[in-house]
Amino acid sequence: MNDVRPEVAPVREASLRNRMAMYGTNRLQIGLFGANCSSGRAVTKVPERWTGSWRDNLRLARMADEAGIDFLLPIGRWKGYGGDTDYQGATLETITWASGLLACTQRITVFGTVHAPLFNPVIAAKEMVTADHIGEGRFGLNIVVGWNEGEFEMFGVQQREHEQRYDYAQEWIDVIKMIWSDKEDFDFDGKYLHMKGIRGKPKPCGGTRPVIMNAGASPTGQAFAIRNCDAFFLQASRTSLEETAGRVAKARNAATELGRELGVYTVGVITCKPTEREAEDYYQHCIVEHADWSAVDGILALKNISPDTVPMQEYLTKRSQYAQGMGGLPIVGDPDHVAQQLIDLSKAGLTGIAVSFVNYIDELPFFCEEVVPRLQRAGVRA
Ligand SMILES: Cc1cc2nc3c(=O)[nH]c(=O)nc-3n(C[C@H](O)[C@H](O)[C@H](O)COP(=O)(O)O)c2cc1C
Repeated sequence: MNDVRPEVAPVREASLRNRMAMYGTNRLQIGLFGANCSSGRAVTKVPERWTGSWRDNLRLARMADEAGIDFLLPIGRWKGYGGDTDYQGATLETITWASGLLACTQRITVFGTVHAPLFNPVIAAKEMVTADHIGEGRFGLNIVVGWNEGEFEMFGVQQREHEQRYDYAQEWIDVIKMIWSDKEDFDFDGKYLHMKGIRGKPKPCGGTRPVIMNAGASPTGQAFAIRNCDAFFLQASRTSLEETAGRVAKARNAATELGRELGVYTVGVITCKPTEREAEDYYQHCIVEHADWSAVDGILALKNISPDTVPMQEYLTKRSQYAQGMGGLPIVGDPDHVAQQLIDLSKAGLTGIAVSFVNYIDELPFFCEEVVPRLQRAGVRA
């Protein structure tokens, strides 16, 4: 019977503010990114690479929940990237994944990553409300518009031009928010969506709605996030903390101008071992010597990055960056070093970071035992 939560859940108010704080007071929130996919975010052939199985996800979610990790962020992926490992070839659908995990955890926020063009908004709104009720206010939405042509072909759905993707997503999120509000039996007649007598009950927990995040990188994508979302993911600079701080301030100021509050997050890929040497060696072992280079090249080709389209040096840099987490900030070192990097990111104004490991279950305990207490002593974690 220890598979289910006790009947009396902790009392918490599912206000938007509490949801955005992930029901905690951590100055730097920490989440786990990509565990619903085989290999997670490490494009590697090492045998201990992440399985992405339900059993491992459940174990991980419980471990993270008990350790005080703030959120779990899945990847919405429908087709693997091939290569020797069929990188991210086996993925658990994210709203059903979140629902299962929310039922078995107490306090962690769990996101679903939803492709707006592939999900009817009335169905999506109800699926997400169901997840939110299961988690008593702990569900979050990562809205994505998609980029991978092959995935759309599989659905028989025509991928829109880049700008139109966000145009469509605007209508989609407007409908979702209306369904989640007090509105009842309303029509929506937009450029793309024409719907009559829309109704959705129950409403999300606490008279509010789930936290919404987006990670648009283009100006249009960023503007969409700032206009509509509570949490925005941006790329941290690999070379300059000032640059990261500048990006964070720019996003937050743009939201303030619209009278909106915005949490600003980034993505990190952590290799943390007892010594710097061990961390460097493990990184080299997994992400260089045993990288699944054929999968990396497949991903780069999808993004039209090849020696024919970009200068050779840029191609080689991208190649190594994509092997270690498809572009996240590498954080490699002993606990002092990893903690310091996270403290610096917090100082740069970031609200949180979504991190990944080669094998989440093997590596999370060491991170929680060694790095988290250092963050607590520095005042960035409660
Ligand atoms: C943290 C994070 C999570 C993302 N999750 C997904 C995802 O699960 N599925 C997907 O198709 N795209 C995902 N993306 C891609 C973004 O939603 C976005 O499309 C991409 O950054 C390109 O920006 P643009 O759409 O403005 O061109 C993610 C990006 C980041 C940084």
